[in-house]
This record gives sequence, C-alpha cells and structure tokens, in this order.
Amino acid sequence: MSMIATTENHSLLPTVLPNGLQGEVLIPGDKSISHRSLMFGSLVETPVEVVGLLPSADVFSTRDCLRQLGASITCQDEATGRWLVTGKRQWQTPTDVLNCGNSGTTIRLMMGLVAGQNIYAVMSGDSSLNKRPMGRVIEPLAQLGVEWKGRENNRLAPVVHLPRLEAKKALGGVHYTMPIASAQVKSAILLAGLYSGETVTVVEPLPSRDHTERMLSAMGANLTVEGTTITLAPNQAQHLKPCDWLVPGDPSSAAFLMVAGALMPQSNLLLKNVGLNPNRTGLLLALQAIGADITLENERIVGGEPVGDVRVRYRELTGNLTLQATDIPALVDEIPILMVAGLYLQGTLHVSGAEELRKKESDRLLAMQTELGKLGVTMQLFEDGFTLEGNPEFVANSPESSLATWHDHRIAMALTVLNLVQNARHPKESAVWALEDPTIVNVSFPSFFETLAGLAE
Ligand code: S3P
Repeated sequence: MSMIATTENHSLLPTVLPNGLQGEVLIPGDKSISHRSLMFGSLVETPVEVVGLLPSADVFSTRDCLRQLGASITCQDEATGRWLVTGKRQWQTPTDVLNCGNSGTTIRLMMGLVAGQNIYAVMSGDSSLNKRPMGRVIEPLAQLGVEWKGRENNRLAPVVHLPRLEAKKALGGVHYTMPIASAQVKSAILLAGLYSGETVTVVEPLPSRDHTERMLSAMGANLTVEGTTITLAPNQAQHLKPCDWLVPGDPSSAAFLMVAGALMPQSNLLLKNVGLNPNRTGLLLALQAIGADITLENERIVGGEPVGDVRVRYRELTGNLTLQATDIPALVDEIPILMVAGLYLQGTLHVSGAEELRKKESDRLLAMQTELGKLGVTMQLFEDGFTLEGNPEFVANSPESSLATWHDHRIAMALTVLNLVQNARHPKESAVWALEDPTIVNVSFPSFFETLAGLAE
C-alpha cells in the first residue's frame, strides 16, 4: 500500500472491527515544527539536519518555496525523515510565483521572512488558501515598514511584496497588540522582526502555539516571553546560529487516532512520540475531562519540546463539556474530531469563542454541520461555536451520495474516523462512506488510511 493516500487505499478501510484498534503507531512529524525547521534552516549557511520531518503536501509547499528562494533542501533518508537544509543569509528573488498550495503556515510565515529579505515576491495558493484572510498579516507588517499588497483591498492572496527602495535600511520596530490569538500572525511579525533595527513586541490576547519562540531562542535570538508578551531585540537575524531539529509527532494528527481509540470498543492503542507542548494538548485534556481512558507514558523532552507516548483505551464518554474562547487555541485544529467524540457523549458538548474555525482550510463549523447533517445529525450552530447533544447509541444514516471534504484534510479525517467508529459500534449497520476527495489527507497525514487499516487488523 502506498504511503501517499489515494482513493484506493481509502476504500481498503475495514468494515468489520471486532477488536476496535489495537497496537502501536509512531505519530508522523509535527506539521508546524516541520515548516519552521525548513524555514529557519534556510536562514543560515551552515547545513542543518532535520530528523522526523513530516513528508506532507503542506510541508513540501514550504520546501518548494524555499528552494525558489535559494535554499538547498534534500532528503537523506525517507524512513527517518532525515533532511539536510543549507540556507543563505541573503535570499534570491524568485523567478516565479511562490506557490503555497493549501498551506496557511507557509504563506503567512514566509510573508514575514520575505519582508525581512527585501526582495520582490508574489505568493499564492489553491482555491482554499486564496479565500483565507491575509490582511491580518499585511496590516501589522505594514507597521514595520513592509509593503505587501493583496487582492481585494489587501485582504486576500495572491499577495505581492514590494521591496523597499532603501534596501540596506533595517525594518522599523512595532508594539503590536494582536486582535486574534494566531500563531501564524505572531510568527509572521517575529520573523520580519528579525530584520528590524528596533525592538519588536507582540502581545497576544491568549497564548497560541509557541514553536517559533522556542526555535528562534534555540538559534540564539534574544527573545523574551512574559505571559502573552513576546519581545524580540533589534537586529537578531545576523545573530542566528545553525541548529539541528528533531521533530516530535504531531498532536493534531494523533488526535484522530485518540478519538478513534476512545470510541471504538476493545481498542487499546499506544501513540508514540506525540508532541505535548501545553499549547497543543487541549483535545487530550478535553477527552480526559469527559472520562476518556488516556494516559501518558515515557514523558521526555525532544528538540526542546515536551513529548510522550499516549495510551488510549476504549471507555464510554460521559458528562457535559463546555469550551470557551480561552480553551480554543490549544485545540484550534481539533474541533472537527472533537465533534465526532461529542456525537457519542452521554452529555452535551458546547463550544463558543471558536469563530476562527470559519477561517481555516474551510469554514469548519459549517462543513461539519453540513456533512454530519447528511448522516442524520442535527446540531445547533452559532457564529462562534455550536451545541451538540451526544448519544452513546448514535447510529448514522447511510448518506445518499459521497460526503464532501470541503478541500479540508481535517474534515476528511474526522468523517473517516466517524465511519470506522460506526462500523465498530454497530456492525450490523456497517458501511464505507465515500468521500469526495480522500487524497486531501495528504496535506497533513499522508499515511492516515494505511495507519488506520494497520491498527484495525
Ligand atoms: C499554525 C497555527 C494555527 C493552526 C495551523 C498551524 C502554525 O493557525 O490552525 O494549522 O503552524 O502556526 P492560526 O495561527 O491561524 O490559529
């Protein structure tokens, strides 16, 4: 079976799962850290080794953009995800549009780095990415003296960077209070700020994932974090030292297996090498709060990040779960799969303060409501969240046609897990639902179907 998801290996998913999911799985590399390891390696001339890189479409978008900007990025060993990155202090002007594909992290973080490099560049992506807001990056960068322009009054990609005439002059400083908790926006400002001649301060409304801060500090940047205020000293680009990276497993990929294991009778899974950065563990804690049997083993620090193995055993979920704005950043990518858990909850799942979900690869609140609706689920949707009444006896209707995947990997994976859970809990009603585009999982988890099929044997 191919490690890249195809329509064929989606249809190999089992319909009979008497033992749920069993066994061990090494969780593929963290997408956020993989992007950053390639980007930050490309800023220094000494070769940097990355081990455990996620070989997914989004990460390859970053790789391909960086190659166009002059970096050499080569795979040394596919099995361990060992790559060598040799960068340049001064990037070259790309001779073509930088294609960011489906990846918000690629376009937004690279907008910060390209601004610092003061080169002419155009960035664009697929139909999903080019609908997502870019003004949230263009506006704060303008305060540093950066000129990114974008489609529809500087709101959308394609975006173009116009170099400053005084090329030698450093960028200015900024004290920016962010209106939304977004690691991508925070990172874009800090990355441009590496090339600033003055102090750059970013204040977050709520803490978002801090991989950029951890990694820049490891490279020797003078960066301080006090609560939700991050301060970067002037002229840090020139002080960056090469640093090798060991990428932990992605908790956002582990999330799908965690929910599958929690809901499928008999399951006993060991998810190995899962990143446990406190800004990423929201789903794990939420599942524990409703009684999931999830325990941590072998906790350790890998590449400056907390990591552990996650043991998940089936146990029925009970209790009401209410999540609000302060809870969202630590599970911002996990809400679609949390909804699947909520369907089987003996209780109510209520989520508010999650309006950012409407601006992800799809409008994830609407996407899940629509597709779950085709399976007979009614859920109450609000502008910033939803209420879902769970039922341990829930049986999905057979959909009349394939379920739409909304050009969104996490929607496709959540709907797949739901399908397996249904088959495990209700063998008499078992089926494999067709997905409009199962290959979209390649964006973050190319071995997704293969992994599930392996654990179901
Ligand atoms: C990411 C940040 C999050 C997350 C995305 C990856 C990152 O987006 O949803 O999948 O790598 O910084 P926001 O920063 O827009 O919340």
